[in-house]
Parts: sequence; structure tokens; C-alpha cells
Amino acid sequence: MAAEELGLRTSPYRFAETETEYRGAIAALGLPCVVKPVMSSSGKGQSTVRTEAEIQTAWNYSQSGGRTKNAKVIVEGFVNFDTEITLLTVRAIDGTHFCPPIGHVQISGDYRESWQPCPLAPDVLRQCQEVSSKITEALGGWGLFGVELFIQGETVYFSEVSPRPHDTGMVTMVSQSMSEFELHVRAIAGLPIGAIDLVSPGASAVILATEVSDRPQFTGIDQALQIPTSKLRLFGKPSSHKNRRMGVALALGSTIEEARERAKAAADAVKIIG
Ligand SMILES: Nc1ncnc2c1ncn2[C@@H]1O[C@H](COP(=O)(O)OP(=O)(O)OP(=O)(O)O)[C@@H](O)[C@H]1O
Ligand SMILES: [Mg+2]
Repeated sequence: MAAEELGLRTSPYRFAETETEYRGAIAALGLPCVVKPVMSSSGKGQSTVRTEAEIQTAWNYSQSGGRTKNAKVIVEGFVNFDTEITLLTVRAIDGTHFCPPIGHVQISGDYRESWQPCPLAPDVLRQCQEVSSKITEALGGWGLFGVELFIQGETVYFSEVSPRPHDTGMVTMVSQSMSEFELHVRAIAGLPIGAIDLVSPGASAVILATEVSDRPQFTGIDQALQIPTSKLRLFGKPSSHKNRRMGVALALGSTIEEARERAKAAADAVKIIG
């Protein structure tokens, strides 16, 4: 819909349902490319294919790692972006509102750190808002959307959209006067948003498990909370496995760098033991 109906700039792409179609898609798009099951989240079943040797492995993983097996995949040409952002966009009774852009870092298709604001040139920000208006208007309804965008120089690519609060937007629990959750509830309840205010530069860093456990316990919380402005959100997941996201550390700073350092230090202080 983004590319074909709305004419938004996206990576080149092909859909594939069989291995033959998949190989055809890669031949058409060239390497590197990104392979994703169409039904997935947090990077599950997703890989970046850089060499011929990785083509088969990526296909096998896409068929086993997705939330549904034997999934249809999308193969996307690799966008060599400089920055990626989430533009939280709220459709409410008093119009469409944008939060200040959130920058983030992703590893293996999953987010590790996010920060707000992410400074952008005025024209780039305008383009990001235009893309976000178009996609959220086409989807329709009231609520908050997480519009993911790639920025390469002055060029903006649409990447994906969540029709709900976004994981990288957890930073807004400290950095904005209204969090992404509050904004979502207000919009759905038919209440006006008014103005969205940034309280201070803020950052989030994820807390990942390192091992399998059916009784994960947190340690290091005392050290994490010694870090100025830091807060923890522990998700209470009943079991852990390597790289499962178990919580998030949040912090503010007088600069984005300071906020990021504090959030990272707080996340690193928390350990999960089996
Ligand atoms: N075409 C592409 N070119 C370059 N990088 C890409 C491309 N597609 C995805 N990525 C990288 O992989 C990350 C995850 O991709 P995407 O957002 O599509 O997957 P996801 O599984 O929905 O992830 P999540 O649920 O965490 O948002 C992106 O944020 C980006 O860093
Ligand atoms: Mg994403």
C-alpha cells in the first residue's frame, strides 16, 4: 500500500511464497538484501543476505523463525541509511500530531537503544511528517502509530508502521509530558491531544536475557537505580532465552549523549540469572 497506492519511497522489494520465487526475487534485487516473513515482529525469521552463501540459510530461517511457519516473505533491497527514526504520529479528534523524532539502533532486526529528540534538518523533518501523515491517513482510525523511516542524506524512505505504541517509543515514558501510551488512550477515547511537550532529552536501553530459564530473577537493580534520573521497567516475562527482551532502562540528560550513556549504564547494571 505504501509503495503502490500512496507512492511513498520505499526500498525496492518482491514478495515470494516458494523457494524458487525467493531466488528469483534475489536475482532481481541483487545483494545485499533483507529477507522478512510478512508476519513477524522483533526481527524473528529476518536476515540480511550479503553473500551468495547466505541465501539458503536466510530462506531456511525465514521458514522456521517467523510467528507462522512456511511464511510468505518479502525480500527488500538494502537501504544504506545514515539514520533511522520512529515518528510517533497521533490521529485524534483535534487532528494529526507528531512527537519529536526518536532515533534508534537495531541489531539483528531488534531495537537496542532509542533516544528523543533525534535532530533532523528542517526539510527532512517536514518530509518525515508528510510521509507519516499519508500512511496514517490511509490506514485511518484514531490512535498513535509508530512510523519507521530511514534517512539517507536528504532522502526519506518509508520502512514500516505499527498501528499502536512502538517499542522504541518507550523513551516517552520519561522524555515527554504525555507518554505514547497516554497519547494512544486519549486519541482512542475521543479526547483532544492539545500540545505534545518534550520534557528533556531522554533515552532507553533494553535489558536482554543471556540464557534460558523458566524462573528468571533480576540482580543489579540497586546499582542501576543509583544512576541519576534512571528508571527501570521490568516486563515480568515468566521465562527467558538468549536475547529475549526482559525490560528497559530509561534516563534523562542535559544532552542526548548524556541520556544515552545513563540509560545504557542502567541497563548494563541489571543482570538476569536463572
Ligand atoms: N530494507 C532494509 N534495508 C536496510 N535495513 C533494513 C531494511 N529492512 C529492515 N532493516 C533493518 O532491520 C530493522 C528491523 O526491520 P523491521 O522493522 O522491518 O522488522 P520488524 O521485525 O518489524 O522489527 P520490529 O518489530 O522490531 O520493528 C530495521 O529497523 C532496520 O534497522
Ligand atoms: Mg520495525
